[in-house]
Amino acid sequence: MGAPLTGVRVRCLLSAWMKLSCPRLVHTQTSGKETHFGFQTVPEAEKGKRVYHVFESVAKKYDIMNDSMSLGLHRLWKDWLVRHMNPTPGTQLLDVAGGTGDVAFRFINYIREQREKLSRNKLDHQQNLSWSDISRSYSQEQAGSLMMSKAVICDINKEMLKVGKEKSLRLGYCEGLSWVAGDAEELPFADEKFDIYTIAFGIRNVTHVDKALEEAYRVLKPGGRFLCLEFSQVTNPVLARLYDLYSFQVIPVLGEVIAGDWKSYQYLVESIRRFPPQEEFKEMIEDAGFFKVTYNNLTSGVVAVHSGFKL
Ligand SMILES: C[S@@+](CC[C@H](N)C(=O)[O-])C[C@H]1O[C@@H](n2cnc3c(N)ncnc32)[C@H](O)[C@@H]1O
Repeated sequence: MGAPLTGVRVRCLLSAWMKLSCPRLVHTQTSGKETHFGFQTVPEAEKGKRVYHVFESVAKKYDIMNDSMSLGLHRLWKDWLVRHMNPTPGTQLLDVAGGTGDVAFRFINYIREQREKLSRNKLDHQQNLSWSDISRSYSQEQAGSLMMSKAVICDINKEMLKVGKEKSLRLGYCEGLSWVAGDAEELPFADEKFDIYTIAFGIRNVTHVDKALEEAYRVLKPGGRFLCLEFSQVTNPVLARLYDLYSFQVIPVLGEVIAGDWKSYQYLVESIRRFPPQEEFKEMIEDAGFFKVTYNNLTSGVVAVHSGFKL
């Protein structure tokens, strides 16, 4: 006689039947706590550790690799991001996954330029000023050249922050910056603290993108803006083919030659391909509660800048 059909046996039989008839469904059910690390599937808890290791390993060569891999284009994309942001003096910026500070430095430069323009306009409108008036006014402007604007660079990786801090001292950015170690999924900041949240080439490395977006929403003031610069889907098919060849055949080789690290750069390329395309990511931002979500493709969609507002 066969064994009686207990609840456990029924579940086993059902599970065997499901595996045979619908393997994809079973995969998603049993691997609910799995995610991707590049093209590999790894347990969720593992991804953060692996990403940490990648950036710990590349930190010292990160800037030089960025220039070589993107042929300098990352500078233009970051310039575009900050021009699009168009921050005014007094803005409080949070740059998450800020790494070695590129976005924050551009933000500070932009604020300084805005400040100088304002001062020049003010002087132009004041007639009959003596040289001493002009000089006094100039030194007052210099004393508060950022007008309380501030950029907080938050990154999970202490090595990236260390390289960034050293770079900021070398380049003479001593005012208006602070460096904070923290996870995009659990930001160490109070609610409604910032005017602008940026994340450049960071969000695809995060394990739960939805959580990172929720956190972005939480820390922004009402009226605040979310801006994300990330690799995306190339819209031109010829360029897409060339870009694929370049990414998979050249970038890991550059990683090995310049940084002695093939694997980390292989991950970076794979992680780009795993990130959702423009429209899908736009929906994710909307699902997090943002309004007026739009995006701009740069370099035919090699990267895209998504923008949304907390209203
Ligand atoms: C490709 S770098 C981008 C750095 C910088 N934003 C730039 O554009 O040059 C990605 C950064 O994301 C950081 N990162 C990865 N996961 C993170 C997380 N969960 N929270 C905060 N930062 C994270 C890494 O440590 C790394 O510094």
